[in-house]
Amino acid sequence: MHRVHFRKEDVSVHVPTGTNLRQACLDSGVDPYPALGGVLSCRGKGFCGTCVVEVSDPAALSSPGKRETRYLKRLDRKLADKLRLSCQAAVNGDVIVTTNPNKKESWKQHGYYAGPRKPHWETDTRSAPTDPKVRNDGVAHGEPATDMPDKVSDS
Ligand code: FES
Repeated sequence: MHRVHFRKEDVSVHVPTGTNLRQACLDSGVDPYPALGGVLSCRGKGFCGTCVVEVSDPAALSSPGKRETRYLKRLDRKLADKLRLSCQAAVNGDVIVTTNPNKKESWKQHGYYAGPRKPHWETDTRSAPTDPKVRNDGVAHGEPATDMPDKVSDS
């Protein structure tokens, strides 16, 4: 049994030697496809390239065929050694898998995301003004002008 860890989803599964990586994804509830890739995919025939994943240790998977290697080099020359079509890879060792490697991580996965924003009136640390002459901006304003005429006549 080998451990396959899906990094983005934080899911680990144990699979026997020779298990198809795409099938391991689907069986563990991890979607190897980008948004509509699953609908448009070749369903594991190795033609569409939508099931591409990045792996931590390429030696932990079966070696890629010529067509797959050519496709992956066209996709990303720098990463080609670590990319695999999950439908064409058999698991032969422990491996960490990143699904949708070309897609940036969701904004929710970034460190600066601190959860949903609260409305400003819940997070406002200023005390509510008790003096009616003090407006919300914290600046004291004078009495409202009372000697101004209600209407300005045109003459
Ligand atoms: S599902 Fe089409 S290439 Fe893998």
